[in-house]
Amino acid sequence: MEIIDSLAGLREARQRVTGSVGLVPTMGALHAGHLSLVEFARAENDFVIATIFVNPTQFAAGEDLSKYPRNLEGDLALFEQAGVDLVFTPTPEMMYPSGYQTYVEVTEVTQGLEGEQRPGHFRGVATVVSKLFHLTQPTRAYFGQKDAQQAAVIQRMVCDLNFPLDIVICPITREADGLAMSSRNIYLSAEERQAATVIKLALQATSAAYNNGERDPQKLRKCLEAVISTEPLGFVDYISVADARTLCELTAPTEQPLLVSLTVRFGKTRLLDNCLLPSNLNNRQHLAQILGHSW
Ligand code: PAJ
Repeated sequence: MEIIDSLAGLREARQRVTGSVGLVPTMGALHAGHLSLVEFARAENDFVIATIFVNPTQFAAGEDLSKYPRNLEGDLALFEQAGVDLVFTPTPEMMYPSGYQTYVEVTEVTQGLEGEQRPGHFRGVATVVSKLFHLTQPTRAYFGQKDAQQAAVIQRMVCDLNFPLDIVICPITREADGLAMSSRNIYLSAEERQAATVIKLALQATSAAYNNGERDPQKLRKCLEAVISTEPLGFVDYISVADARTLCELTAPTEQPLLVSLTVRFGKTRLLDNCLLPSNLNNRQHLAQILGHSW
């Protein structure tokens, strides 16, 4: 596995590669969710590039940029075991040199959910991801459903700006007790970690209500809220039942695919999770057809 930390080095290495390239962008602090993306990329491409970059422009003021978990040595070992061919580890100065002033803005699908809670977040994500696409020129780029709005934003950007690549959206990898894997889970105390399982229970209860015919978005939201409120350590940031194609919050019942998502705080840690309904849509084929495809 090659480890490259310069733009010139990456350009030179990329020119040597022939065949299809799968890209897996990450901020490091790897877990099995990241590695599942590598596994898909490995199976579907001749060459796999992964990136590790804690992107400062996607952290809003007061967020955890300086405290974001970092473990470069461990991450490189995991990528190597997973069969990555090349890891790119740029510095902030390399990606945003002095005088930097160009940003990518996706205007609509960024409005609600995480975009509303984290001003400027998706501008930072779209900017860095478009830079990584230019630098690595992938055939396919892999993103997780865990960050469903991010996947939709990137899908929209790729379409709108004619990037010549395919976005692949991969299902959420979970711990044995159902907690979605996240680099931020290590911030949880033992009690908070235990309590956090309530998120998956809330999604399951909502999915069961949907399967029993409930289509009223407000009743589905109440169902999520009722389960979360059984856990005194959990504080809801937002609960959303949105049209899965536009990510617009629903006010009336619909048979269209739904994105049910929520963020819940345990202490200082904010956890994000979601599912598509009907639940048979939570697989790669359907995710790619739905998230970010508002046409
Ligand atoms: P990061 O949070 O490191 O996540 C990298 C990728 O892993 C994202 O596509 C994310 O959705 C996916 N991922 C995270 N947890 C997952 C899980 N439990 N199951 C499956 N996939 C999971 O997302 C980012 O970094 C950044 O915003 C980035 C796209 C790298 C741009 O800076």
